[in-house]
Amino acid sequence: MPDQDLPAPPENAVVNGPDHAPQGPQGAAPSRPRATETRITHIVFPGTTNHHGTLFGGEALSMMDSAAFIAATRYCRRKVVTRHLDAMEFSRPIPQGSLVELIARVVKTGRSSMTVLVELFTEDMYSEKRELGCSGTFVLVALGADGQPTPVPALEAGPT
Ligand SMILES: CC(C)(COP(=O)(O)OP(=O)(O)OC[C@H]1O[C@@H](n2cnc3c(N)ncnc32)[C@H](O)[C@@H]1OP(=O)(O)O)[C@@H](O)C(=O)NCCC(=O)NCCS
Repeated sequence: MPDQDLPAPPENAVVNGPDHAPQGPQGAAPSRPRATETRITHIVFPGTTNHHGTLFGGEALSMMDSAAFIAATRYCRRKVVTRHLDAMEFSRPIPQGSLVELIARVVKTGRSSMTVLVELFTEDMYSEKRELGCSGTFVLVALGADGQPTPVPALEAGPT
């Protein structure tokens, strides 16, 4: 369904918005498919830890919300805001000096909402040890130019 908030793309623009199948300018190779997954890696520096020397929960939440925000934005290419979060699990402490990898995946879409599962894995710097540190589910809503919820593309079923 066409969205009234979207201006027409400029001529020869790479069209990759929610109302268009990803494609390149005329004659060019198609652009990449719509992204549903975003991965971000950080290191746990002292400024982000608590007095136990482990990652502060609020820092973990901030990283996870950012990852969810990026995943939802890349998915729908619109302004998005976080509307709801739940199922937060802090499974194990994450020591200073660890590497953390966030994997944020759009797992469900509604009319204007996108549900993004975010998992934060902790990785030892000098071994292959890797464990799930925390996870949560974020619901983000796409907003139109009027600041009201606006439709997002439906999530296509992946390969079975
Ligand atoms: C986002 C906002 C404009 C939505 O307004 P609203 O009146 O809640 O809009 P709606 O009731 O139409 O809900 C919009 C979508 O959110 C979903 N939603 C609302 N409350 C929800 C909840 N508690 N849990 C999950 N989804 C929820 C609705 O189901 C709807 O999804 P759909 O369109 O896919 O069916 C408004 O809530 C807002 O501005 N919130 C503040 C956002 C913010 O500042 N976030 C922090 C900084 S990013």
